[in-house]
Amino acid sequence: MPLQIIRNDITKIECDAIVNAANETLLGGGGVDGAIHRGAGKELLEECKTLGGCKTGKAKITRGYKLPCKYVIHTVGPVWRGGSYDERKQLESCYKNSLALAKENNCESVAFPIISSGVYGYPMDEAMKVAVDTIGSFLLNIHDDMLVYIVVYNKTAVSIGNKLFTDITEYIDDNYVAEHTDVYCYRMSMPYPGIASDKDIDSDDIIDSYDIPISDSIDDWVNNVIDESFSEMLLRKIDEQGMKDSECYKKANIDRKLFSKIRSNPQYKPSKTTAIAFAIALELSLDETKDMLMKAGYALSHSNKFDIIIEYFISKGNYNIFEINEALFAFDQSLLGAL
Ligand code: APR
Repeated sequence: MPLQIIRNDITKIECDAIVNAANETLLGGGGVDGAIHRGAGKELLEECKTLGGCKTGKAKITRGYKLPCKYVIHTVGPVWRGGSYDERKQLESCYKNSLALAKENNCESVAFPIISSGVYGYPMDEAMKVAVDTIGSFLLNIHDDMLVYIVVYNKTAVSIGNKLFTDITEYIDDNYVAEHTDVYCYRMSMPYPGIASDKDIDSDDIIDSYDIPISDSIDDWVNNVIDESFSEMLLRKIDEQGMKDSECYKKANIDRKLFSKIRSNPQYKPSKTTAIAFAIALELSLDETKDMLMKAGYALSHSNKFDIIIEYFISKGNYNIFEINEALFAFDQSLLGAL
């Protein structure tokens, strides 16, 4: 999963580079700056003294010393002054310049705090959005196998904006059912990744949303429902949409290695979050998404918050996987893509 949102203390993250939300002197401070200097030890400050400071929006790199990372990339976020002093642009440059520096130093993994969202007062939901959007477009457009973490220190602080949060909460309330009331798929005992329910029900209970002709043999049923595998449908859809493979797996927040596994094995059984991630990348309708999921042995269910949030974004036509993951993170759900 090229972009992950995780809850942790950034000084604990073992990766090639962690990013510090510093100030222009680069001589340390509070917040994440203070934590990083404490974790790295005094040699970090000694090296910072040789850098001659750093302008807002720019980035400079030092060694990580006692931290479990090779480098620390110091960047200086804007102080929030209401939003009409180019704060967004300056904050975007922090991420862009830090990522460029990481790439220059052949970093394969980078961890960011949510820059400017603490002492510098940038509204958390907006600061998070800038981070997700800027890192997301770097991963989509710069052909990179870089793994990027957005490290959230105190979960409660993260918000995705009241309007979106309220919208999704209402959608969940309108659609959530405590128990499964929708029909189940049949358990199919076959080598193919079966669509399983934990109960046996008679044929009238087959999922009507697929209008499957009720046949007298399970084989006919299988042939009707699963005429192609998940992997075959994925590749067919990529071709039909004239997408490049790399465009599809980057939009799905899936790394290249996993995609090649799926591409080379027609019977590959992906995880549910991976299957949905590709449906989002292909911008499938809700019915096509259910069809693709079924080929991997899954179904969307209204007794599952994660599924309802996915349904919310598809129904709104929002296929930005990084925004969807931000919302899933805010609702304490697993993220889309593959770990
Ligand atoms: N790990 C991850 N994130 C952290 C950690 C940590 N150990 N400590 C704090 N954070 C989070 C905060 O919760 C906040 O969401 O980092 C985000 C950025 O907060 P600050 O560290 O206050 O940075 P910023 O808002 O950019 O202000 C920079 O603060 O510390 C001083 O010297 C620094 O003057 C500079 C200013």
